[in-house]
Amino acid sequence: MAETAQLIIDGNTYEVPIITGSEGEKALDISKLRAQTGHITLDIGYKNTGSTQSAITFLDGEKGILRYRGYPIEQLAEQSEFLEVAYLLIYGALPAKKEYEEFKNAVTIHTLVHEDTQKIFDGFPSNSHPMGVLSSLVSSLTAFYPRSIDPGRTPQEVNRTIVRLLAKIPTIAAWAYKGEMGHPVNYPNNELDYCSNFLHMLFSLPTEKYEVDPVVADALNKLLILHADHEQNCSTSTVRIVGSSHTSLYTAVAAGINALWGPLHGGANQAVIEMLEAIRNDGGDIQKYVKKAQDKDDPFRLMGFGHRVYKNFDPRAKIIKKAADDVLAKLGVDDPCLDIAKELEEIALRDQYFVDRNLYPNVDFYSGIIYRAMGIPTEMFTVMFALGRLPGWIAQWKEMRENQEPIGRPRQVYIGETERDYVSIDKR
Ligand code: ACO
Repeated sequence: MAETAQLIIDGNTYEVPIITGSEGEKALDISKLRAQTGHITLDIGYKNTGSTQSAITFLDGEKGILRYRGYPIEQLAEQSEFLEVAYLLIYGALPAKKEYEEFKNAVTIHTLVHEDTQKIFDGFPSNSHPMGVLSSLVSSLTAFYPRSIDPGRTPQEVNRTIVRLLAKIPTIAAWAYKGEMGHPVNYPNNELDYCSNFLHMLFSLPTEKYEVDPVVADALNKLLILHADHEQNCSTSTVRIVGSSHTSLYTAVAAGINALWGPLHGGANQAVIEMLEAIRNDGGDIQKYVKKAQDKDDPFRLMGFGHRVYKNFDPRAKIIKKAADDVLAKLGVDDPCLDIAKELEEIALRDQYFVDRNLYPNVDFYSGIIYRAMGIPTEMFTVMFALGRLPGWIAQWKEMRENQEPIGRPRQVYIGETERDYVSIDKR
């Protein structure tokens, strides 16, 4: 018999179905609650609300577990390639050798963007933030591929859009950076793998030959995998809810990029470095900043600390911390910000305020340090996150459409004025 919970309102008892996930997670299915009881649930910030049933990513914030399609993040980060993980997330299984070759080939041959894209780039001021440029350019792909707008699109058309997104976003992202620098853009080199090609487009200059360092390409591969999906976070929920109106996948992903940009989400990696630099420039008094973060009258927060779902440790932060040490050692980089980061982490982890609130370093605490060591400028950090998160956004959008989920439309509890009569302007 199906499990239910009992809800008593005004002396009336209602049976509420209980849904159990494949990892034993329990949820009360309240989809008929309003029709049966006249009540809705209230959960500002969706802290305790499941918006969907998903088979893509499992995470257990208490135990620090993260798995894509059942595979532990530690194994994927260590052993796989980013495009392989993208295939896994989007299509549900690890690709066989031939499938993977075909997929990689399809992505590789679509890396060029339409030449008219240059005209759009030219319209942006040279100091534009690359996240704004990226989201605008991704939206503009609907203009270059108008068939993607058709809500009745075929699976073949959807797959073409998926491949184009994976192929072209690195090109657009690298060009956004080149625009900011005032450098000529680099065209993709399809002889290079996904990560090496991106680094080439970012760093090659007409004046000197750029050789991709395999240490840097490997680190990038790992970072992209670690960011590839994180179930129903702010940007992914945005992609699903925007996509639920049957808008094009390009537009839904552009919305996700915009949601990611904020400092409480993907923008945190940029904010972490800016914070570490501010601490260093202010004489390196870490205690002062730890105290500031605890002061309720001070809006300052320790960037890269805390997470909505991880209340023990962020498994990605563990992997990244080690990767940061490896990359810095291999590249011979001595970064004072890393020393400040380590000391800050140590102090905060022992501080009662952070202990009481289960605040630990999250993935962004160390990712910025590696990106810096790789020579990637601070303003590009959130773009790097977007590159990584792209397969997750696509997979979640695809799942939502394939499951024919209804348009996302939360309710509210109205707390404004009750009905009153209009007063003409001269009588107010
Ligand atoms: N520094 C200081 N205090 C903090 C921090 C922080 N970084 N994070 C949370 N707190 C405190 C809050 O003030 C609050 O204290 P209170 O209970 O005394 O009022 C308590 O911890 C709970 O915080 P909430 O804001 O309610 O937690 P929530 O789950 O809503 O927020 C978030 C999570 C947004 C990540 C938050 O921890 C934060 O702002 N962190 C800094 C920004 C950051 O690193 N974001 C990246 C997140 S990871 C990602 O998107 C990839």
